[in-house]
Amino acid sequence: CGIVGYVGSRDSQDILVAGLARLEYRGYDSAGIAVIGEDGSLGMRKRAGKLARLREALETDPLRAGTTGIGHTRWATHGGPTDENAHPHLADDGRLAVIHNGIIENYADLKRELVADGVTFLSQTDTEIAAALIARAYRETGDLVAAFRAVVNRLEGAFTLLATHQDHPDLVVGARRNSPLVIGLGDGENFLGSDVAAFVEHTRRALAVGQDEIVAITPDAVEVTDFAGNPAEPQPFEVSWDASAADKGGWSSFMAKEVSEEPEAVANTVRGRIHDGRIRVPELDGLDDLFRDIDRVVILACGTAYYSGLVGKYAIEKWARIPVDVELAHEFRYRDPILSPSTLVVSISQSGETMDTLMAVKEAARLGAKTLSICNTQGATIPRESDAIVYTHAGPEVAVASTKAFVAQITALYLLALHVGDVRGTLADDVAIEAVAQLEALPDKIQWILDNEQERIEQLARWMADTRSVLFLGRHVGFPIALEGALKLKEISYIHAEGFAAGELKHGPIALIEPGQPVFVVVPSPRGSITMHQKVVSNIEEIRARGARVIAIAEQGDSAVLPSADEVLRIPLASPLFEPLLAVVPLHIFAMGLATAKGLDVDQPRNLAKSVTVE
Ligand code: G6P
Repeated sequence: CGIVGYVGSRDSQDILVAGLARLEYRGYDSAGIAVIGEDGSLGMRKRAGKLARLREALETDPLRAGTTGIGHTRWATHGGPTDENAHPHLADDGRLAVIHNGIIENYADLKRELVADGVTFLSQTDTEIAAALIARAYRETGDLVAAFRAVVNRLEGAFTLLATHQDHPDLVVGARRNSPLVIGLGDGENFLGSDVAAFVEHTRRALAVGQDEIVAITPDAVEVTDFAGNPAEPQPFEVSWDASAADKGGWSSFMAKEVSEEPEAVANTVRGRIHDGRIRVPELDGLDDLFRDIDRVVILACGTAYYSGLVGKYAIEKWARIPVDVELAHEFRYRDPILSPSTLVVSISQSGETMDTLMAVKEAARLGAKTLSICNTQGATIPRESDAIVYTHAGPEVAVASTKAFVAQITALYLLALHVGDVRGTLADDVAIEAVAQLEALPDKIQWILDNEQERIEQLARWMADTRSVLFLGRHVGFPIALEGALKLKEISYIHAEGFAAGELKHGPIALIEPGQPVFVVVPSPRGSITMHQKVVSNIEEIRARGARVIAIAEQGDSAVLPSADEVLRIPLASPLFEPLLAVVPLHIFAMGLATAKGLDVDQPRNLAKSVTVE
């Protein structure tokens, strides 16, 4: 869910709705705002559906203008996406408005207690329980911060809560546990947001609220305390991008814009991390002893980030010679994992807020492992909970399905592998120098694909608009790319898609092949391993013989694929380990092209949210 709060001297409605528009990627099942009007009364509008529906409601039935308010865009957890279940939720006879992100796990017990107390509820949400508890505590003292303090310790699970009360027309109070909350500092106005996108068009000065802290903002002051009421020091930071970076800038969708930024995402992630012709990540200075001592790396992530981790395994094992396990964070977390102080746990997350990943990182730290976060969002929770951070510099990613962040994540993993390999002395000079040359050349090669193949791929996608199922095959580093190609297609075009390791084909998946079945095959370069190349070409022949329609992704000049593939999408030559950064580009373009051909919203696919802050 996305959360925004404002206190200042301007009309808060426009600021809240604009903030929600930037946060909509966090969930778009419903949206709502509450504003304390000039006459001192609290007004509220909320609607199921995307933000546009709330905008319509505000036009036909405007709220009284006011300079204090809160807003919410929802990804439904408790209770379906209806008007009633949308946030804000009111309590204290409509004088208190509350919004919430997360899940309050003990809400059933609390609800029983409140019902016994005579409270009635309008929605099925856990949020309304929190609102009722805050209202009850508030009535005792008339102090909203004290009311928060009394309630937050009773809530189990994850939450960011924001509230405003009409008795205090210049105040918004918030609290967070395991869910994100940042403060934006303005002149005579202050902001709260799930992330800086909520307020970056107004200010780039920000404070990160720590775990289990309560914050109270007024137009001229910000006060942060822990749950016991002791003063806390939120961490200041400056947002490195401006609002225009999070605008569509003339593109038909954020996804189209973000795919077009894949070359820059790689270039910006490499920038500043080459010294004397070798990879040196300055953020990792001082960790040489750690890197020398570790005997195992565990990579934790979800979704697309997990696939980047699968690619990273090949690079870390090859260059740093450390065994790597890659795990889905939610699977790792609950199976009593075995870690030691010589395990380095590397988490990968674009948002830095994915709850499954955050909980896995915390568990890893609890078990004594060292933690390193690869993240695209400054001030996010996962990097703050980690011992070391390597930021990807893909810029803000808004479309729900990840594209430019994926190539930036692979790039960052390669930088990490090369840095650690250097420290451990496992990296030969010529390999290190060649890797730098490869990384520097990648942005232009990605651009070549966009310039020369995009149109053809989009045309192919249009032809395939009625396809019901697509398979993806890859081998070695091409295998995770096949998985990513399939995920992207599922996410945004709702077509059944599966990725398989090409070698596994004969052990089962080949049974799926029937005449006309489209299969994308990521063909490894013959310059890497000729045997592997030949094996994948044989796989193409095997499925072709059974009627598959083969679309090969192969490097320029690889003519072995020509006789058996129906289509060949070309990528420029690169060292085999760097090919995933090229091979994935046609697959991103294809998924986007197909969803567009079906008339779907590529930026906000159904049922998904970009940042899933519940477990
Ligand atoms: C969600 C998104 C995916 C994303 C995953 C991990 O499921 O829909 O697109 O890959 O979260 O997100 P993260 O922010 O941790 O990289």
